[in-house]
Amino acid sequence: MTAPVAIVTGGSSGIGELTAHQLNERGFTVYAAARRTDRMKGLERSGIRTRALDLTVDRSMQDLVEGVVAEQGRVDLLINNAGFGAFGAVETVAMADAKAQFEVNVFGLARMTQLVLPHMRAARRGRVINVSSIAGYVAEPYGGWYHASKHAVEGLSDCLRMEMKPFGVDIILVEPGPVRTEWNAIAANSLVASSKGTPYAKQAKATRRALKAMNSSILAVPASRVAEVIVTAALNEKPSARYPVGRRAAAIMIAGKYLPTKAVDAVTGLLYHAR
Ligand SMILES: NC(=O)c1ccc[n+]([C@@H]2O[C@H](COP(=O)([O-])OP(=O)(O)OC[C@H]3O[C@@H](n4cnc5c(N)ncnc54)[C@H](OP(=O)(O)O)[C@@H]3O)[C@@H](O)[C@H]2O)c1
Repeated sequence: MTAPVAIVTGGSSGIGELTAHQLNERGFTVYAAARRTDRMKGLERSGIRTRALDLTVDRSMQDLVEGVVAEQGRVDLLINNAGFGAFGAVETVAMADAKAQFEVNVFGLARMTQLVLPHMRAARRGRVINVSSIAGYVAEPYGGWYHASKHAVEGLSDCLRMEMKPFGVDIILVEPGPVRTEWNAIAANSLVASSKGTPYAKQAKATRRALKAMNSSILAVPASRVAEVIVTAALNEKPSARYPVGRRAAAIMIAGKYLPTKAVDAVTGLLYHAR
């Protein structure tokens, strides 16, 4: 039997890089893709194929999927992992930045999915794993567009899961809590940039420190842990619809869904201002 073929977006860093390694170790033929191809040399040394990908450019996404299908004749697994946090108060984040957030986290993920589905439907099997977040269940101040994007990923994935069931294609959500990756610094820096000279500047600086501290916090899990869960979701014969990852992730998801909104706001506010 030939090895199953996987595409991993966001392969140049963090969760995507480790997921590519772990899938490779489990016998998948892996294509890791991101804009910074220089950051994927380590993957190449392990025998992983790397490709340039910009999720804001339609041709780039088409080239990737067409190239994989031309080389392998199939795509069995798509890991929609690439994403970032455009942080800042809803009042001050420029609409262009808000749109850029959705372009990658939502429309890029959706377009990659559109491109692989015809191949999976034809094979009557396949799996798409969307890396969402507990941010798709709860919200915190100054993360409006990121949270909105992950809430959108949740809704989109729930629709798609039902649409794909008759075709034998599984749509799976992985829901990490805080993870130690470059994501934290990127979100922190965008928060400060979008808050500069605004009434939110002081709080933004405090929040930046808290976000950056996440990389050494015991509340956060290593990216390898998320990768392990993604690989479990990829291999499980009867996969769950959702895989929470990390300390208290499942509890936070349940609280976000079932507790009264004012109670969730109050607890989030306490945690937030304690930072
Ligand atoms: N870290 C956390 O606390 C956390 C928690 C929950 C969920 N998540 C989610 O986990 C996923 C992976 O994040 P991470 O923590 O591993 O962060 P990361 O280390 O910053 O990795 C993000 C990846 O996304 C890629 N990317 C960003 N913009 C892109 C674009 N326009 N086109 C193609 N690729 C792009 C980056 O590659 P290039 O810059 O090279 O293109 C990079 O490989 C994201 O969806 C994130 O929202 C993270």
